[in-house]
Order: sequence, then C-alpha cells, then structure tokens
Amino acid sequence: MIKPFARIIAIISVCFSLSITANQFEKDWHTYSNYQDVVSTHIVLNLDVDFNTKQLKGSIEHHLKYNRKGVQNLVLDTRDLDIHRVETFRCGVWSDTTFKLSERDDVKGSKLTIVLPRMSKRVKVHYNSRPEASGLQWLSPIQTAGKKLPFMFSQSQAIHARSWMPIQDTPAMRVSYEANIHTAKNLRPIMSAKNDPKWNENGDYHFEMPQPIPTYLIAIAAGNIHYKKMSKQTAIYSEPELLDAAAAEFIDTQAMIDATEKMYGKYRWTDYDLLILPPSFPFGGMENPRLSFITPTVIAGDKSLVSLIAHELAHSWSGNLVTNATWRDLWLNEGFTSYVENRIMEEVFGKDRAIMEQALAYQGLKEELVDLPKADTILHIVIEGRDPDDAFSGVPYTKGQLFLMFLEERFGRKDFDSFLRQYFDDHAFGSIDTKSFTRYLKKNLIDRHTGKVSMAEVKEWINEPMLPASSPKPTSDVFTKVKSHMDSWFTNDTTLSNIPTKDWTVHEWLFFINNLPKDISLDRLNKLDSQFSLTQSTNNEIAHAWLLLNIKRNNPVINKRLADYMISIGRRKLIVPLYKALLETESKRAFTQNIYNKARPGYHPLAQGTIDALFAKK
Ligand code: BES
Ligand code: ZN
Repeated sequence: MIKPFARIIAIISVCFSLSITANQFEKDWHTYSNYQDVVSTHIVLNLDVDFNTKQLKGSIEHHLKYNRKGVQNLVLDTRDLDIHRVETFRCGVWSDTTFKLSERDDVKGSKLTIVLPRMSKRVKVHYNSRPEASGLQWLSPIQTAGKKLPFMFSQSQAIHARSWMPIQDTPAMRVSYEANIHTAKNLRPIMSAKNDPKWNENGDYHFEMPQPIPTYLIAIAAGNIHYKKMSKQTAIYSEPELLDAAAAEFIDTQAMIDATEKMYGKYRWTDYDLLILPPSFPFGGMENPRLSFITPTVIAGDKSLVSLIAHELAHSWSGNLVTNATWRDLWLNEGFTSYVENRIMEEVFGKDRAIMEQALAYQGLKEELVDLPKADTILHIVIEGRDPDDAFSGVPYTKGQLFLMFLEERFGRKDFDSFLRQYFDDHAFGSIDTKSFTRYLKKNLIDRHTGKVSMAEVKEWINEPMLPASSPKPTSDVFTKVKSHMDSWFTNDTTLSNIPTKDWTVHEWLFFINNLPKDISLDRLNKLDSQFSLTQSTNNEIAHAWLLLNIKRNNPVINKRLADYMISIGRRKLIVPLYKALLETESKRAFTQNIYNKARPGYHPLAQGTIDALFAKK
C-alpha cells in the first residue's frame, strides 16, 4: 500500500516529467500531428509492394503513449494516401472507428484525424499509397542496372514518409518498428532495420528495428537486391551487376567505423550496410539507420568520392543518435555530420585529403552565399510555411561545419572532442533544437573554459546571415601548387603538357576546374579538353564541374555529352546546377527542354519538382 503523500509525489513527478518531455522543444511546424498529447512509440507495418499498380498496400499499427488525460483524437500526417478503414484496439478486440481526412496542403499534406474511444492503446489504419507518392520512386526495368526487373525505393527525409505511411511525421519523436513486407518472388524488399541477407522463396519478409528512430529514417526498397559482405560489420546490398565494384570502392567502411568509434564512442546500430541504388536516386546518400542508401554515381573506381560514405556513417552519431527536433535545426544534423565526416576522412585518408575537402567545400559555400537570399544564410533558418526541400542549401552543411571547426580551433581538439563525445552520449536516442543546443554548449564548453569564445560569437554564428569574420578559411598547400601552375599557363609561361597532372587527385582536378577564370576563352577551354579529355571524364564530379563551366561559357562542344549526362543521372546536386545555368540563357531553352523531356520520366519525383520549378520561374 503506497502512503497518500508518496502517491501525490509520484503523481506530481509523473505529470511533471510528462510535461517536460512534451514541451521541451519548439513545436515542429511541419507536422499536423498532436504528438505533444499522444505519442506513437512503436509501429507495425503490413505492406504489399505492388509493382503493377505502383502502390504500397496494407496497414500500419501505432502503439500509443498518452502525455495527458482526456485525449480524444489521434492526428496523423498523410500526403496523397487513400485511407480505407481505421480500427482501434480496446479490451482485447479491434473495432472500427471514425476518421476524417482534411484537405491537402501543398507543404504539409492532409491531416488525418482519428477518433480515439477512451484512450485506446493501439490504432490500425488500412491504406494504400498512390503511384505519385513524393517519397517513393517506382523504376521500370530499363532504369536499373540489370534492365530486367523493376525497382522501388523510399526517400523519406524531410517530410515524405507521410506519402507512404500515415504517421506522426516529426523528428521530435521516435518510434521503434517492425514490418511484414510481401513482394513478388523474384524481387526482395529491404529496410532500415535488421536485415537477413537470405532471399525467401515465398516473397514474405519480416523486419525489426528495435532502436527508436525518427520517422524520416524509416526506409524501404525492393528490387533484384543481392548481398556481398565486406567486413565484420559492413556489407553491400545492390543489383548483382554493381556488387563487386561497390565492395571494392567502399572496402574502407569498416576502418571508418573504427575511427569514428575511437573519437565519438560506440557505434550503436550493430551493422552498417550500404544499399547501392539505381542512378535516379535524387541524393548522394541517405543515412537510413543500419543501411545507408547510396547513389551509384560515387563508384569512381579510385575511392575518390568515398567521403560520401564517411558522411552517411557519421550520421549514425549526428542525426540518427541525436536528431534535429525540427527542420529549422537541420544544421545540427548536417553541420555536425559534415564536421565528423571530415574528421573521419582525416583519420582514414590523411590530413592532406581532409584539408582539400574542407577547402573545396568552403569555396563552394562562398559562391553559394552570393546567390542565396540573406535569410537563408542563417544556420537557425526560419522555414515556417515553407517546404524544407525549398530551403535546402550548403548553409546547414558547410557553415555548420565551419562553426564546429571554429570551436575546435578555439578550444583545442582535445577539449572539443570530449565535449562532442559527451554531447552524443547525453542526447543519445533523443532530439535537440537549436536553443537547447546553445544552452548545452554554454554550460559544457564555453563556461568551462572561460575567455576562449563569447556567447556573442556563438549567437553570431547561429543567428546572423553569411559567414562571421572569425570563420576558419581552409586553404590547402596542394591547391596552392595547382593554382600556380594554372597561373603560369595563363601568362603563357608554361604549356599544358608541362603541368605535372599525372599524379593529380580528383580533388586537384576539381580545384583546377572550379578556379579557372569565369571568362576563360573557348580557345583555352578546348585546349584543356584536347589535352585532358575532361568532357569524357568518367568521374561524375569532374564531369559536372567541367560541363557547368562550359555551359556558362556557351561552349557547344559539350552538348552531346551534356545530354547523355543529364539523362543518365538523377542526383539533384549533379544536375540541378546544370539546368539552372542552361536556363540563364533564353536561346538555350529549347535545347534544355528537349533534354528534360527525355530525362524527366527517369527522375525521382523530388528532382522533377525542383526542375519543373526552374522551368516555371523563367
Ligand atoms: N540526410 C542527407 C540528405 C537529405 C538532407 C535529404 C535533407 C533530405 C533533406 C544526406 O546525409 C546528405 O547530406 N547527403 C549529401 C551527401 C554529401 C553532403 C556528402 C548528398 O546527398 O549530396
Ligand atoms: Zn547528411
């Protein structure tokens, strides 16, 4: 028997802790869900992957935890879903309940309001996604490496999970999940969960993700997906045609895990596998837990682009373990990850390479800052009312990274490393917003080593536009040499064949191309091309930089290669700048439209949306 007083204390403390968890952070503007009242803590998916109709069909079950009494509705996020029936579970039986699907908002989708009879603990929604789901891409066989079987994959970040599951779609909350997925027998599904590499004869697969994750990390793919182990914790999943090349390219993934563990503590997700997607994947990579989704465009044959893997792996700490509470706080995910990525690259590939990558990113950011609206150059960006995809830029990545480099410089690596490691531990499996981060930073770093960094400096980094004067300005000695060769060529003091390019890395080439004068003559461009065959470069980053420069200089020589490139690649970062540059010149519009007509059907809905908007603007 509990004494009355103890009971009151217990009740008060329960209520208090509940109100703390519910109201700790700024409300996430991008969700309709009432996650502050009632939280979905575990999800059970039962889905059929139907390639004929391009739909996921089945049900989702939510296990609920209440933060207050008297909650009468469960509000979920959806976009373009057909909702057939909703059931609630009470006293051992499932029974139908009423629901309302509100009108569609272009950014947030449609709010699904479900009536909860007396605090039911479980809710099951029967639904299907539609072929145009923004978070899924359904590929025909011709768009795959093998050309014989179809493929589908999800891309849920930032707010696209709601286009394939009715959920509380906010990074402020976490769910564990399990899934029963059925697909055609000659295909296999795979998820951001524990995966069994074995194929099942009957097309039925079961997945479990025991660790709680934010909904944008729930991921699914299905296709002719095979498996190749690389090391104790790492493996490749991909179409069989790419398995060997991918395993050779990404063989250092285990070394990356080991290096990160040494710096920031244990890898908490057991295995780390890579799923290599078809080339229409709109991103370089996506950090789906246990199974990063990766573009095949980084398989260069010389490991030159593997910083992408370091990046997605780094998210296993910054992002997946400690998550931005709202999409305003994206820099806490991407800035920290870009910083950790570079530290991993330094550990595994050495300081020279890490600094070259910093310098390239810094140059890229400076160029981007010139064109961005001032308000979008602030780390703690205001995106209320906007689609997070439209506010996407290098700011959360590189400005965020530079901020952490600034702190590292001022406090010294040793103290900064232990701060960061502690930060990951203290917030493991939780979310954090910019305000709470600032408080944590003050208490655990700034105030402990007084006189090194002022809060005014911190605020300038976080709340002011552009880059503070105190920003690190990474430069590379290797690049300085490249620059001096380039200068000698422009002053006619050397010829191209005398420049020692034989041992140049991809990074040196990228620096070289990016730093050619903006008004370079066609004659010089063509000389470079005949000496170094840049138009035909098989490195997708080099080809991108070269094609972009030639578009800006109106050099028609590249047109054939340009068309092939834009039709074969769907990664937004590599194609959007090319479309933008092409559309700057009215006379190229028909040419560009012609390429886009051919390319568009192969692009992901997100890439289509971005490029459609570019055409509509002009
Ligand atoms: N999580 C991002 C991709 C993302 C961010 C999707 C925001 C949707 C909204 C991923 O980790 C990423 O940053 N990818 C980059 C990698 C690069 C910076 C190394 C990419 O795709 O280019
Ligand atoms: Zn990232």
